[in-house]
Amino acid sequence: MLVTGGAGFLGHPLVCGLAALGEQVVSFDRLTRGSFPPSVTEIAGDITDGARLEHVLRTYAVTEVVHAAAVVGVTASVAGLPAAVNVNVDGAVALFEAVCRVGGVRRVVDLSSEETYGHFVRDPIREDDPALPVSPYGITKYAVERLGEYYADQHGLPYAAVRLCWVYGPGFPRRRLPHPWLQDAAGGLASRLARGGDQRIDFTYVDDAIDGILLVLNAERLGHRAYNVATGHAVGLRELAAEIAQLRPGWQVDLGDGPLEMAPGVAAARKGALDITRARALGYAPRVPLSEGLARILSGLEAGHPLTQGSHP
Ligand SMILES: NC(=O)c1ccc[n+]([C@@H]2O[C@H](COP(=O)([O-])OP(=O)(O)OC[C@H]3O[C@@H](n4cnc5c(N)ncnc54)[C@H](O)[C@@H]3O)[C@@H](O)[C@H]2O)c1
Repeated sequence: MLVTGGAGFLGHPLVCGLAALGEQVVSFDRLTRGSFPPSVTEIAGDITDGARLEHVLRTYAVTEVVHAAAVVGVTASVAGLPAAVNVNVDGAVALFEAVCRVGGVRRVVDLSSEETYGHFVRDPIREDDPALPVSPYGITKYAVERLGEYYADQHGLPYAAVRLCWVYGPGFPRRRLPHPWLQDAAGGLASRLARGGDQRIDFTYVDDAIDGILLVLNAERLGHRAYNVATGHAVGLRELAAEIAQLRPGWQVDLGDGPLEMAPGVAAARKGALDITRARALGYAPRVPLSEGLARILSGLEAGHPLTQGSHP
């Protein structure tokens, strides 16, 4: 089992979860964590290095791949568009080529995003609804999906995309809601956000995202090439604020109307819930309600747990 991006927010719990199930897991990431169980092989490498990936696939006789290495998020993709294209698109192609050259892999699960949809044309949105991404990040993620389908059709790549949405949880490495508000609430500070009161998001707790990824990875047969993995329910940012205020009644946010601003001058796409009917048919059932996920992170922050602090403020 190979997890690219294994040192990341989603990659790390995936690697640890798979290792706990007795899988021989190789983590391949630009960064090393040094905090995996002893059975895990941790390799430092660049996802665009196809020769290295080929060597890893052969050496460890890899039969499954979860592809999580990426430049992640609209903000990062706006700040460094060429790097996002290089890592996300060239990196995925390097991986797909290596998998096709080596053979023996039964499934490649690509962690994709609700950003592929651009402005949602429906709420909840379905996997076969139009995908017209508007952010550089969404465009790279959609390009990877289309390339994955091309490699599947032309070269037999056993490709499946899991479209995740605003996964949150301990150790989330970016300043994206709900984390900044939770950090303020845990620190006894009020929050302020100039715009975003009209934004709706299908926030997904990390444990649920991992459950869905593993179901797509392990299903004997897949009827589709893309699966939404979220909760199936969107909340507005004012509802999110109300949930946090209920957990920590002293906390307040001054929140302006309109869509959320992801980067200076870059508004978030219009979003909503993701239809999870396909994932449900594989046995997926999200287990962590928003209030519980928020409460877990708040408790971790207040206990000073290092995993809940976020590594890139
Ligand atoms: N977290 C979310 O809310 C979310 C939502 C939708 C999709 N996704 C997707 O899930 C995947 C994992 O996201 P995450 O939240 O864990 O992000 P993350 O930033 O924590 O993890 C990405 C990992 O990729 C690694 N990486 C970056 N460039 C690399 C390179 N050139 N070579 C090798 N490794 C490299 C990073 O070191 C990092 O460990 C990504 O594909 C992301 O697009 C995440």
